[in-house]
Amino acid sequence: MIRSVIKGTGSALPAQIVSNDELARRGVDTSDSWIVERTGIRQRHIAQPGESTGTLAAQASRKALEAAGLAAREIDLIVLATATPDNTFPATATQVQSLIGARPGGVAFDVAAVCSGFLYALATADSLLRTGMGTKALVIGAEVFSRLLDWEDRGTCVLFGDGAGAMVLAAEEVAEDGPGILATRLHADGAHGEMLYVDGGAGTTGTVGKLRMKGREVFRHAVVNLADVLTEVLGAGGITAGELDWVVPHQANARILDATARKLGLPMERMIVTVDRHANTSAASVPLALDVAVRDGRIKPGDLVMFEAMGGGFTWGASLARM
Ligand code: UT7
Repeated sequence: MIRSVIKGTGSALPAQIVSNDELARRGVDTSDSWIVERTGIRQRHIAQPGESTGTLAAQASRKALEAAGLAAREIDLIVLATATPDNTFPATATQVQSLIGARPGGVAFDVAAVCSGFLYALATADSLLRTGMGTKALVIGAEVFSRLLDWEDRGTCVLFGDGAGAMVLAAEEVAEDGPGILATRLHADGAHGEMLYVDGGAGTTGTVGKLRMKGREVFRHAVVNLADVLTEVLGAGGITAGELDWVVPHQANARILDATARKLGLPMERMIVTVDRHANTSAASVPLALDVAVRDGRIKPGDLVMFEAMGGGFTWGASLARM
């Protein structure tokens, strides 16, 4: 059978690290103890002038290509998830195509599903590869959320960071028990759009918007929706939670990760946690966390890994893969 096989991962983070104490010193009415206790976040990376969604995405992509042992010219499909594109158009994916020297004439486009964006991009690339629309893909999550934040709103500005993660996928003939993306499910419910949104910023309105969130409501929905979609994907993959080697979750809040592990009956040791170092990097958080765990040797070839995320829209999804 043809599957999309993960050939390499890469990530990129802005050099500037801002601690919780530094935010308080800069005038945000908060404290390290509140942020750590309520979210698990200790620091975040913040982009500087000259760093953008496109440049971070290109850096992460080059590292993923190096890990995969592929040349950029071999990439004929780029799907980039972002809620913070550098321009309304052209798509940031086309910018990355040109920056890294991917095959001209290949397919490149962006996907907007906020924090679930990487799951949506992965599902899209997987479908296109399996139906022959491409042979080798870059799937990227890249965000510069710091430029969307209202630094007067302590309920949101302490939660987010900037960064990018990338994954190289190749369509390959594999055995039933071989590697690749095994099952994916995506969902959306637009009735909850006002719980997490940006109040402007669209080219059609000519406004500049800031992120707004009803944190407590989002938290409640996240725990329920993630448990449901994880159960659904485990069923589609024909496995039990106990068989998972790793869960690579969206990194929004350490308490959501605890609740998800408890619902799956998995020890926290099997959850990859980077929210303490990266904060919430929206669509970048899953591929960033994956790359950290691949590079530090925890996630190895043959491991069964679950990716999951939930975010604005609402949108949510999960995907099961064998490395
Ligand atoms: O990635 C997309 C998905 N996003 C999420 O999953 C985020 C989900 N939500 C959350 O992670 C949590 O709801 C938050 C971390 C955003 C907030 O935690 P919470 O436990 O739900 O706190 P809260 O919003 O109910 O606020 C509790 C108190 C309030 O004070 P009062 O009204 O009790 O006096 C807030 O004003 O904490 C206060 N507060 C803060 N205090 C210090 C809110 N933000 C801060 C802050 N520093 N940064």
